[in-house]
Amino acid sequence: MRLFIAVNFTDEFKAAILDWQRELRVFAEARGCGRVNWSRPENLHLTLAFIGEYGDPAQVLSAMGRVEAERFLLETGGSGHFGSLYWAGLRDGRSAIALSEAVRRELKKDGITFDEKPMSPHITVARELNLREKPAIPVPAARMTAECFTLMKSERIAGKLTYTPLGSVGLR
Ligand code: 2AM
Repeated sequence: MRLFIAVNFTDEFKAAILDWQRELRVFAEARGCGRVNWSRPENLHLTLAFIGEYGDPAQVLSAMGRVEAERFLLETGGSGHFGSLYWAGLRDGRSAIALSEAVRRELKKDGITFDEKPMSPHITVARELNLREKPAIPVPAARMTAECFTLMKSERIAGKLTYTPLGSVGLR
């Protein structure tokens, strides 16, 4: 199964990202953008590590369980795009990066491989969004405390990208 590890959001935090996505959509539709793949509300998350195909989620959860890290504040801030992938950012990504590094260290100890691209904290709101003119739409302010991180399964169900939580580990 396809696995990744993420921080999931409170409804309030998600609402701010969705407000921004809505404005981006209005902007894109006014410019006649073609088929855009908009992230579904339930799929919004912050990825800490992308494992990909792996058959033993219990082993991953056991590695995750050894991570000792503190709760931290997530605050929206900034936005950007990697080509046609548009994302909302964090005001200060350092704690999220530190958690991602701690998680990856434990995965490595157990020989669980993952995409080693350094974490660049981002919340994907759209894929295949091709805009010549870049939107200057600020991401609404929102904050939440990250209290845990979660092993997620990614699959297509009836054509829909679906993420299912398999287990979470609390932060101190
Ligand atoms: P993205 O939002 O930038 O596409 C599930 O696919 C999650 O893992 C997504 O948040 C995705 O990031 C992230 N991810 C990180 N590296 C990935 C990779 N090599 N392939 C697919 N998804 C990856």
